[in-house]
Amino acid sequence: MKVSIIGGGGLVGSCAAFALQCGGIAREIALLDVNQELAVGQALDLQHGSPSVADQVISGGGYEHIPSSDVICITAGLRRKPDESRLDLINRNTDLFVQILNDVKAAGPKPSAIVVVVSNPVDILTYVAANKLGLPADQVIGLGTQLDTIRFCSLIAEQLGSPPTQTKALILGEHGDSMVPIWSSATIAGLPLDKHPAWTPALANQLFTRTRGSGAEVIKRKGGAGFAVGIAIQDVIESIALDRRRVLPVSSVQSGCYGVRDVALSVPTVVGRKGVIERQEVELWPKEMQGMRASGAALRKTLDVVLKRIG
Ligand code: 2OP
Repeated sequence: MKVSIIGGGGLVGSCAAFALQCGGIAREIALLDVNQELAVGQALDLQHGSPSVADQVISGGGYEHIPSSDVICITAGLRRKPDESRLDLINRNTDLFVQILNDVKAAGPKPSAIVVVVSNPVDILTYVAANKLGLPADQVIGLGTQLDTIRFCSLIAEQLGSPPTQTKALILGEHGDSMVPIWSSATIAGLPLDKHPAWTPALANQLFTRTRGSGAEVIKRKGGAGFAVGIAIQDVIESIALDRRRVLPVSSVQSGCYGVRDVALSVPTVVGRKGVIERQEVELWPKEMQGMRASGAALRKTLDVVLKRIG
């Protein structure tokens, strides 16, 4: 299984490569970047650690890696400023992203290649990629709210002193301001979170608010997220590589799940070697259902503007 990471020289791409290296699943990892020297440097630094981790081929380069890639992860793009929303970023990133899509298409990806979109605003760019790449839409997956979900679980676990790996609370919808916390299915060690002795509605709001602002908080403190994004990317690519069919909150073009269609956002998605295997519409609280529809509407509004711009 070969994974190519476009933007592999940057913080997100190189952290994704490191997470994949530590995960040991990808046989080959190629870091592609407009700054090829940087990509080669990142790959060399990773390669130096390989004797202690896994038998993998790690290289830096360009689009010559695309035809042999099973997974193409696109992380390239400008980062938000601390006070900028992901959707504000769209104008600056769309032209760059469309050029990358054209370059990928021209390089001749495998018909079975799975594309994982990370660049922001990820839901908008996932929709654009699904429509422009010429691959089946279900072979295009956006990282979506997988990152928000693991952030959410980490903050709840920290607050309650519970094991992060046994703290399960979903974020669905937009990877952005309209993201939706799914309390109805939140658990700690399989027990309902809202029955936890320390749980209060105020605490719930506080934790969700901090989760929603985590991207901006990390940007403000260290310039941009890398480690957790890399782990979230590895979660998705591992499920693809091993055909694990894990149910993950990732973004894809919707055709009616939770009443949302013709826009990309995150719903519980079975992720396997062929990409999106199935979307699972498990019943949510009415407020959560409304949140999903509001998320779809917010994204649709921006998508209409973007599609007018890029055609
Ligand atoms: C974040 O939330 C990069 O959008 C990503 O940090």
